[in-house]
Amino acid sequence: MQIARTIPELRSLLGDGRRSAFVPTMGNLHDGHLALVGRARTLGEVSVASIFVNRLQFLPHEDFDTYPRTWDSDCEKLRAAGCDVLFAPDEKALYPEPQTCKVHPDPLLADTLEGAFRPGFFTGVCTVVMKLFACVQPRFAVFGMKDYQQLMVVRHMVRQFALPIEVVGAPTERAADGLALSSRNGYLGPQERIQARELPDALRAVAQAVREGERDFGAIEARAAAALAARGWQPDYVAIRRRADLQPPAGGEPLVVLAAARLGSTRLIDNLEIDA
Ligand code: PAJ
Repeated sequence: MQIARTIPELRSLLGDGRRSAFVPTMGNLHDGHLALVGRARTLGEVSVASIFVNRLQFLPHEDFDTYPRTWDSDCEKLRAAGCDVLFAPDEKALYPEPQTCKVHPDPLLADTLEGAFRPGFFTGVCTVVMKLFACVQPRFAVFGMKDYQQLMVVRHMVRQFALPIEVVGAPTERAADGLALSSRNGYLGPQERIQARELPDALRAVAQAVREGERDFGAIEARAAAALAARGWQPDYVAIRRRADLQPPAGGEPLVVLAAARLGSTRLIDNLEIDA
């Protein structure tokens, strides 16, 4: 695996016209990230991953400073996964001057759910993803369905700017008890880690209620949020939305249930597509 620390270094590694498949990450890699790398290897002639903890997508009170940075083990895992090129710029290399030119995604997609609770989050994501795309110039980009709204926002950005990139969504990798793998799971204490399965359990209960024909979605959402709260969670939202645009359902469309909730000081998100 070759490592580029600056944009010129990356350009010289990728300047031979090979079609690349790109996996952007913030590091602290787990099997979810590595599954994306595996997918990328099947798509492009060269697989590229990036590690960059993007300050622009953190609110001032969020965990930018404490976000886990695990460089050595990340490199080992990427090497073992067969990643060809790692782009790991520091802040000076990616943002040599303050990044005042930003990408503002469609508010309809980006100001709901995560965007409602983390104002500016998707502007930070889109800005760094656009910049990483400009650096890597990939033919394919692989994103996890774990961050369902992020995948949709990025897809929409790519379509609206006619970027010559195919965005590929990869399924959520889960632990044996159903908890979606996440870098933030490391913040959970041992007791909290056992309890954390209640979040995917709640999503499954919502999906089952919809599948069984219950149609008062507001009541289903409220019941799931209340069940989590009763067990000590602080839910931000449990929301049944249309897969197509993340808006509230009108009737008959393919649906997804998305949730965000805090357990102690750890904020977790998850989602589940609801089969008809
Ligand atoms: P990060 O949280 O490191 O996630 C990087 C990629 O891994 C994202 O596409 C995310 O959806 C995917 N991922 C995370 N957990 C997963 C799981 N359990 N199964 C499958 N895929 C999973 O998302 C970001 O970083 C940042 O916002 C980024 C796009 C890099 C921009 O800074």
